Amino acid sequence: MTLDNSRRHYLMCRPTYFAVEYAINPWMDPSAPVDAALAIRQWETLRRTYLDLGHTVDEIEPVPGLPDMVFAANGATVVDGEVLAVQFRDPQRADEAPAYRSWFERAGYPVHEAKYVNEGEGDILLANGMLLAGTGFRTTHAAHAQLQEVFGRPVVTLQLVDPRFYHLDTALCVLDERNVAYLPEAFSAGSQAVLRRLFPDAVLAEAADAEVLGLNAVSDGRNVVLPAQATGLAAKLRERGYATIGVDLSELRKAGGGPKCCTLVLREREASK
Ligand code: ARG
Repeated sequence: MTLDNSRRHYLMCRPTYFAVEYAINPWMDPSAPVDAALAIRQWETLRRTYLDLGHTVDEIEPVPGLPDMVFAANGATVVDGEVLAVQFRDPQRADEAPAYRSWFERAGYPVHEAKYVNEGEGDILLANGMLLAGTGFRTTHAAHAQLQEVFGRPVVTLQLVDPRFYHLDTALCVLDERNVAYLPEAFSAGSQAVLRRLFPDAVLAEAADAEVLGLNAVSDGRNVVLPAQATGLAAKLRERGYATIGVDLSELRKAGGGPKCCTLVLREREASK
């Protein structure tokens, strides 16, 4: 893999208004304290990590009253320079959708309206030319059909079964063009069989690593940025030849998010594809 191939363009949202004010996943406890200043420092470290790796990071202006807006992965799905807007399941996050949509419109991307509940890259990941699409908690199965129409890529539905791993990106990480890491028991039996068929050499994560959101990792094909607490997974990845960079996002984890949740991948159209 050439260095050029590993350059990434990300969109992030500073956690200026981050808080845990409601509970829409089992990680969130509005009565537990959150250190808002620490959350911002941790997020800045993540952003700095990407810049140090040579990636480009754009920022969207945070909106007061939208405490989960830091989780930019839920803001859209961007493939081949086309954007599919999002529609959140929960009313608390609904107003994030137009905020992200207008960022993309202003940036000049063609934007397709979401017809069904779809929480962007939280549930939709590009792997080996296919779109892996999670369902069971947030993104609906109907949205998977829209994905296929919008992007013209095969869509593989994966059924999530554990409420702690409510978005696909909490249970599966795309490592490079060919391979993924995932927690088998986060998926239905049929989806586990599909994953084995598609990715026979996948890195299988242990529960302990998934429970610190270790799979909520961002890979550029060679460097994997993952929660510092996921030491077992990091060791497995290094055995496979990846470089690992641990970041501590303890405060954002209190909302159920890790590095990947904070990071939306902007994929431009590639001339050769
Ligand atoms: N509190 C947010 C929610 O429950 C966390 C979103 C995490 N994002 C992600 N891509 N997994 O919606």
